[in-house]
Amino acid sequence: MKIVINAAMTADGKIATKNGNSAISSNVDLRRVHQLRNSADVIMVGISTVLADDPQLTVRFGTTGSKSPARVIVDSTGRIPSNSKILKKASELNTIVATSNRISFENIRRIESTGAKVLVAGRNKVELRKVFRLLEKMGHKKILVEGGGELNWSVLRLGIVDELIITISPRIVGGRSAVTLVEGEGCDRMSEGIPLKLRDVRRNANGEMTLFYEL
Ligand SMILES: NC(=O)c1ccc[n+]([C@@H]2O[C@H](COP(=O)([O-])OP(=O)(O)OC[C@H]3O[C@@H](n4cnc5c(N)ncnc54)[C@H](OP(=O)(O)O)[C@@H]3O)[C@@H](O)[C@H]2O)c1
Repeated sequence: MKIVINAAMTADGKIATKNGNSAISSNVDLRRVHQLRNSADVIMVGISTVLADDPQLTVRFGTTGSKSPARVIVDSTGRIPSNSKILKKASELNTIVATSNRISFENIRRIESTGAKVLVAGRNKVELRKVFRLLEKMGHKKILVEGGGELNWSVLRLGIVDELIITISPRIVGGRSAVTLVEGEGCDRMSEGIPLKLRDVRRNANGEMTLFYEL
């Protein structure tokens, strides 16, 4: 199984503004992201991203011939709203809510009634290692993790990420509460940081720079 993280951030490392607005990428970068989605079997996001952005997690932006990757939402209590774009399309597109024992029976019933599957893994938080194992058993080979910062940290900390792709937008938004590329507990010492190998750098006409790292 291959695990890839993709994100767009500002030059000051934020993946959204302090209000949660995350429209960072230009259309040129979005086309790249949608081609990347098209190469994946699964797109995974954290529940706070769903609540902030109400994404569709589908392949669009001129990318054709899609096999529609499965959409996985990491949501330990099943907070995903029934009127979210993801659940509204759950009867047509493979949709999995990865959750924990903290989910209520009501939320399981509510989510399953939309056509989405509920996958319980973990006691308090979603146990991601287990989720990846189950996804692999289902035959999924390439998982694209699209944030946010908390999920990025949890996945990176597992030590099973193969590639990290970051587009840096030429702007600064500041805001001490604005979410950064990687949140979570973080390391105590620089020497404990997760090492990356820079494999490629690409610039586009909009002044965006995309960094391709191997781990
Ligand atoms: N620019 C970009 O590329 C980009 C991409 C994605 C998102 N974003 C932005 O990022 C922001 C959201 O990021 P975020 O860091 O606040 O949240 P997030 O990573 O989207 O979601 C985190 C939440 O997922 C749930 N979760 C359950 N198990 C988990 C686990 N093992 N590890 C991590 N999370 C787990 C937790 O909520 P529960 O306890 O309720 O389960 C946790 O609070 C939004 O503003 C969005 O717009 C930007």
